[in-house]
Amino acid sequence: MEEKQSFLNQKIDLESPNRNIVPITTSIGRDGKLFVGGCSIEELVKKYDSPLYILDEMTLRKSCRAYKKALEKYYPGKSLPIYASKANSSIFMSNLVSSEGFGLDAVSEGELLTALKGGVPNEKIVFHGNNKSDKEIDFAVRNNIKIIVDNDHDLKRLEEFSNSLNQDLEIMIRFTPGIECHTHEYIRTGSFDSKFGFGIEYLNNLFAIISKTKHLKLKGIHAHIGSQIFELDPHKDLGEIMVKVILDSKKYGHSINELNVGGGLGIKYTESDDPPTIDEWVKTISFSIVDACKKNKVDFPTLMCEPGRSIVSSAGITIYKIGAFKQIPGIRTYLSVDGGMSDNPRPITYQSNYSACLVSNPLNINSKNKYTIAGKHCESGDVLFKEIELADCETGDLICVFGTGAYNNSMSSNYNRIPRPATLLVNNGEAEIIQKRERPSDLLKYDILPDRFIKQN
Ligand SMILES: Cc1ncc(COP(=O)(O)O)c(C=O)c1O
Repeated sequence: MEEKQSFLNQKIDLESPNRNIVPITTSIGRDGKLFVGGCSIEELVKKYDSPLYILDEMTLRKSCRAYKKALEKYYPGKSLPIYASKANSSIFMSNLVSSEGFGLDAVSEGELLTALKGGVPNEKIVFHGNNKSDKEIDFAVRNNIKIIVDNDHDLKRLEEFSNSLNQDLEIMIRFTPGIECHTHEYIRTGSFDSKFGFGIEYLNNLFAIISKTKHLKLKGIHAHIGSQIFELDPHKDLGEIMVKVILDSKKYGHSINELNVGGGLGIKYTESDDPPTIDEWVKTISFSIVDACKKNKVDFPTLMCEPGRSIVSSAGITIYKIGAFKQIPGIRTYLSVDGGMSDNPRPITYQSNYSACLVSNPLNINSKNKYTIAGKHCESGDVLFKEIELADCETGDLICVFGTGAYNNSMSSNYNRIPRPATLLVNNGEAEIIQKRERPSDLLKYDILPDRFIKQN
């Protein structure tokens, strides 16, 4: 029988890391074991323990550069790629994307602080959110961070704020363009059932309201149509719709010159995933906006896009140590690892699929066993893989899960009071800690036992 080829044997796309399951520096060492960023994963775990998040610097930089390069190649106007920090927020990530010329999008004071601490210039940060607090708005305005107005509540407070300061405020508005995307299909609807943004049908009203305010200056429009999208047509449609919105706004005296198309480009989690390249995605959007601008005699606005997943996902891996095995004859064998839904809530939340291998046998030579990989949490649904083929393995072996750079750490929790893993950055054979491992005692930091509960001796 022919041996099944491992996904690790596939050719790596160096230009568009979102098309690889693995970080672009992944290799198999002379010892037959897994290396990433020139580092032996086994040695890293010996030194830093498990579970462990690892980010590959080269993959991150390649992804950022692919966006920059494509924007410069296809879009004749100004452009600014903006990293959607919700995908993976840290001082390090803020610093890295900023060093690659990216801006950053944030949705809370915490993400804003992280961005500023990481050195992202204030004028390159945009502030999103469907329920911003007064304190957050105050923080953003005072720090000169552009606010993306999501609803009437935002608008009212910003108007009051600008009046109280007697100062002009540049704003962007978010709207729902009526394009509904799922990974493999999309539909155009008249309105879009979403908690985010103004309905497109309401925009003329909104333009009239904003033009009557004393200090609000409508500078840009924003739309984000979904995530993990493999089709290009929805973004082609989006470009046309957005230029049409700019045209409509002119009737109300606005001169919008920033157009932000959000994020959404998909990545390859498993072999059946086939996302477009970053180049193709940017080209589609750029051409659609350029064509629509020419047709409608609109000046090219500054083009912004907000990729998250396609910047960080394939740069990230998570390493777990195998503990218990439980065989249920005729049904399945559970293999339990030392992490799970607290460091990766996506399988239990979205039934997401990943690819994985044994660190000591990455090519899965002689894979003949099917396992269910379970996490260690007190929850039956805490299962990372329902069924995965692996070579023989035993307690103490390491498993590497690929594609965990996005929406893992940033969505992690302390469920069951399990501390978060450390994050390492690997590059050229060196590893550096960019986020420390939490300790159980750290989790007690915010607990308070009121005095009257403390036993008096
Ligand atoms: C407003 C906005 N921008 C950008 C993104 C990033 O999307 P992705 O990670 O799919 O690129 C999201 C994700 O949900 C979003 O809500």
